[in-house]
Amino acid sequence: MPPVPIAEPDWDRLERLRARFIARQGSQPYWDDPADLEAYDATFGERIGWKWDAVLAELAERGWRPPDGPVLDWGCGSGVAGRRVRAAYPEITRLILVDRSPLAGADAARRARVRFPELEVEIGDRGEPIGTLLASHVVSELDDAGTAALRRAVDRAQAVLWVEPGTPDDSRALGAERDRLLGTFHPVAPCVHEGPCPMGEAGNQRDWCHHFARPPKGIHGDRLWTTFAERMGIDLRSVPYSFVALDRRAFPPLPAGPGRVIGRPRPYKGFVKILTCGTAGLAEVGLQARDHKDTIRAYDRGEGPRVLAGGVDGKGWLVRSTGTDGAKANIFRQ
Ligand SMILES: C[S@@+](CC[C@H](N)C(=O)[O-])C[C@H]1O[C@@H](n2cnc3c(N)ncnc32)[C@H](O)[C@@H]1O
Repeated sequence: MPPVPIAEPDWDRLERLRARFIARQGSQPYWDDPADLEAYDATFGERIGWKWDAVLAELAERGWRPPDGPVLDWGCGSGVAGRRVRAAYPEITRLILVDRSPLAGADAARRARVRFPELEVEIGDRGEPIGTLLASHVVSELDDAGTAALRRAVDRAQAVLWVEPGTPDDSRALGAERDRLLGTFHPVAPCVHEGPCPMGEAGNQRDWCHHFARPPKGIHGDRLWTTFAERMGIDLRSVPYSFVALDRRAFPPLPAGPGRVIGRPRPYKGFVKILTCGTAGLAEVGLQARDHKDTIRAYDRGEGPRVLAGGVDGKGWLVRSTGTDGAKANIFRQ
């Protein structure tokens, strides 16, 4: 997809918003007027949309589709999550937008109605059953009352798609919510197992569950996007995120193997090391460059396999991945 062109944004306004996000401001709404949401939606919001695109691509790979019932976008801001999800699943007929800021709810509703005229769009949580609950970039803003309200909404949902920025703190907070819901919900992605998140275990403190989305092609040559990156101190090549998709319905298990790739493969002389999370916990897998050329090239482009599957032959994992089925990989840490 080509980058969404942005009109010259109000840079001062964006800088003010960024300062507020960094300060992780308390329990007061921070959207001052519709122009805040306009500037946000075209820039920060669009970048969050790239993360949702990556999440939705992974969910498609796992065969997930939304359960019946309305989609509720909790802490919707300008509503990017709801629009991305509706675009991926046209069977969604109702979208409910919830935000402590009435400005945000109204803005997200207007955008959703313009983009999907046939979609039923409502503002405000009336406490009804929810099909899919969406939460995006909210965890760092939750006070106790916010956490309780979000949990009440989760309790009424059949499925939850929750995306956060990919920092260690946000990722751990998300992991804790995931673990709290085990037994009621099945993790669909990124997890390939239903056990507690191993990132919380002693000895795994230096790791956190995060992934990288790919910005649209052409973004690096786009003057407005590069100015945005420069002024906001954001590296456009790196779009980290953490997420969890949970569903009350069980999904068929994935083939056994090292599991979901975490972060980026790290290059060494003649091989790459990949941290994976699977049924056996965290593992560090080494792919030899000579045996896994295509896979490593795909990772360099940000396209390598998300899940490493395959069996063990006593000497090393037989990793099933693009191009080189059955080539050996070593486990460095498990
Ligand atoms: C960083 S913005 C993210 C907006 C949007 N979800 C996105 O991904 O672009 C966080 C949003 O959560 C909302 N929010 C924070 N705490 C909330 C609460 N307790 N109840 C409802 N909305 C809340 C804020 O008003 C803000 O619109």
